[in-house]
Amino acid sequence: MVIKLETVLVEIEGPVATISLDRPEKKNAMNPQMHADMNAALDEIEAAGGVKVVVVTGNGDSFSAGMDLEECFLRPYEDPMLFYRTNLVALRWFKRLKAFPAVTVAKVNGFAFGGGVLVTGICDLAVASEGVLFGLSEINFGIFPAGGASWAAANNLPRKQALYYILTGDTFTGAQAQEFGLVNRAVPAEELDAETDRIVAKLVRKNPVTLELAKQVYEHNRATDLPAAIDYDQAKLWELSRLTGNEWINVALKQFEKRSFQPGLSTYRRGDAAS
Ligand code: COA
Repeated sequence: MVIKLETVLVEIEGPVATISLDRPEKKNAMNPQMHADMNAALDEIEAAGGVKVVVVTGNGDSFSAGMDLEECFLRPYEDPMLFYRTNLVALRWFKRLKAFPAVTVAKVNGFAFGGGVLVTGICDLAVASEGVLFGLSEINFGIFPAGGASWAAANNLPRKQALYYILTGDTFTGAQAQEFGLVNRAVPAEELDAETDRIVAKLVRKNPVTLELAKQVYEHNRATDLPAAIDYDQAKLWELSRLTGNEWINVALKQFEKRSFQPGLSTYRRGDAAS
């Protein structure tokens, strides 16, 4: 299924949805229309049901040049309510993407500045072409990274690197982004699709409920102490068991009992249980 919105293209093929930012002539800068379209794209993907992985990428030579500096900032600035409402639509999909039930993968195909770094950082996983340029360029026009971009830097880059790029506005490459941990892998541009597909293929074989809860458990447990994390794990494990009809016991561990797979090296066959 292909859904063409004004500035965003959504393709849903079974368990995989691909969102392509589609304003290549403006380097996929996110204008108010794109923010509205991104909310609509997430609505469509949720409504389709059964999507396990969402890939976010850009059409043309950019992932995204970040917020549209004219349409989101310059033009509405004089009208505080308009400015507030315009940017609320953006902040809404950033928050939604971060908490999205499916696994999100940024496929960074080109320039990623400001909001482009933010989206890369918000996604669960990220793959980049090694030569792409990232930048927290806000300091270059006199502000600090906002709207979640400082959060993305703080949570995806080591402290000295985060502060260096926040304070200087220098660019860094996809290869450096891999070194810092902002992306899982940086590959030659011609391998970007195949590398992303390889990761997506691994994910779609897993139980979607387990993927969703694994994300929740990770995010919760990063921000808590061990006793609270253990209690949360226990509660979520019971929730998982009930939501999946005990698939891990009844299917996965039964297969292990027959020695038909080694969980350290591969995943169980979901077969009829697959959803
Ligand atoms: N907001 C609004 N318009 C933008 C934009 C942004 N963030 N980024 C690029 N554009 C526009 C350019 O103004 C230009 O518009 P025009 O054709 O009407 O003149 C068009 O996109 C193409 O950009 P251009 O600068 O000509 O391309 P380039 O390949 O030479 O450079 C960038 C690409 C990304 C390096 C450069 O456009 C840039 O620095 N953009 C701003 C990045 C930024 O600071 N983002 C942070 C936002 S939070």
